[in-house]
Amino acid sequence: MVIRKVGVVGCGLMGSGIAQVSAQAGFPTVVREINAGALEKGLGSIRRFLQGGVDKGKMTAESMQQTLGKLEGTTEIAKLADCDLVVEAATENLDLKRELLGALDSALKPDAIVASNTSSLSITELGTFTKRPERVLGLHFFNPVPLMKLVEVVRTVRTSDEALEAVNQWCVAIGKTVVNCGDSTGFVVNRLLVPYMLDAIRVFEQGLASRDDIDNAMKLGCGYPMGPLFLTDYVGLDTTYSIAGIMFEEFKEPRFAAPPLLKRMVLAGRRSRGVGASGSGGSRAGFRFRGGGAHPPGMAVLRALRLRSRAGRRRRIQPRDRARDRRAARRRAGILAGRVRGIRAARGAARAGRRSLRRVRRDRTGGRRERRGDRHRAPWGRRRAASRRDHSSRPPVPGRRPARSAGRRSRRSGEAVGMSTSCIT
Ligand code: CAA
Repeated sequence: MVIRKVGVVGCGLMGSGIAQVSAQAGFPTVVREINAGALEKGLGSIRRFLQGGVDKGKMTAESMQQTLGKLEGTTEIAKLADCDLVVEAATENLDLKRELLGALDSALKPDAIVASNTSSLSITELGTFTKRPERVLGLHFFNPVPLMKLVEVVRTVRTSDEALEAVNQWCVAIGKTVVNCGDSTGFVVNRLLVPYMLDAIRVFEQGLASRDDIDNAMKLGCGYPMGPLFLTDYVGLDTTYSIAGIMFEEFKEPRFAAPPLLKRMVLAGRRSRGVGASGSGGSRAGFRFRGGGAHPPGMAVLRALRLRSRAGRRRRIQPRDRARDRRAARRRAGILAGRVRGIRAARGAARAGRRSLRRVRRDRTGGRRERRGDRHRAPWGRRRAASRRDHSSRPPVPGRRPARSAGRRSRRSGEAVGMSTSCIT
């Protein structure tokens, strides 16, 4: 079988790129979007990329026009009926894909091949949504599709050799290098790439380094074209989160679990660059794209969560805590009452003896000039005064060495051994 006409479902970040490279290679290509607005947005991004190529001298204006001439936009699935290969590039949502693949199966000619650009869902499962599982396979492109050379071609146990061969040939014809692999969640690239991106978020979340330093570390230290946080923004926060969820569900390995920070950023509507033509809103702010902070937002998020959990604990007070609180309150009230009684007594004595209040206090403190802290203690705070002991005259506890004899003295006393000096080993 030879592929002559191609259909692409979805004209978002990936779909528009796939449609572009297909058309650029001379294949008549029909790209379908859900509505006219999303379609125009996707076709606009193709036009801009091609124009960028013309401006850079990578292609001529004529070949740009030829490419656009091979492209047809539509909002109807029926327009894909005569395609030999249809690449589904819709959002990573199993229910959505089930519906879409069912509709494609009914609309396409019987020998058409259906490929999915999913990066993590099971191709075998997607095949069960059609009546042609032997003609279903995975075709995983990379972002930005026109610039990235690789395509992972994924076959299931049911994919026919004929379908695989036809798709491999088409990939070569559009200028890509093929890596054939089996149907395992994440295939080859995401199995390695996703834990790396998630680990970078964890490093950022823990405050180990700033976002720029993390990205520079991997760019300059390992020669990667993009740092991991920039790459996560580039792939899209919601896409990364969704892929991580699917991979964690499959392998149950902690390295695939989305870090709390990523989850919160997605919940807060931060989707970053991955907001494609068919994206359902959200902000373009990410780790490094507009609005991302240079320092871990994780700190603020975690602090807020801790405060909230503390408040939650306060709300769920146990009965024994209440009793303890009541006892503490009674104690505080007693101390206060004692203080008030003392002040009143001092005032009375001052009035009776026509002595100054300061004088009365001085008498009570045994001639010593009253210090600020003494005001409410001696003599009416007898209980506390009595509890104060002269530690210097306390007899040594048998078996316990006094602190000084342990040799830990300050620099001033001659021996440079202490917590902040270098002799601590
Ligand atoms: N038309 C034609 N060529 C263009 C172009 C255009 N509109 N725009 C750029 N180019 C060319 C440039 O001229 C340049 O070509 P030369 O090397 O021949 O000079 C090349 O493309 C690179 O472009 P830039 O110099 O402008 O940009 P760059 O050097 O910063 O590279 C990049 C950009 C290719 C995206 C690079 O940063 C990169 O490789 N990043 C990593 C991307 C990545 O890892 N993608 C995979 C994501 S994972 C995924 O997608 C799968 C998943 O499921 C998660």
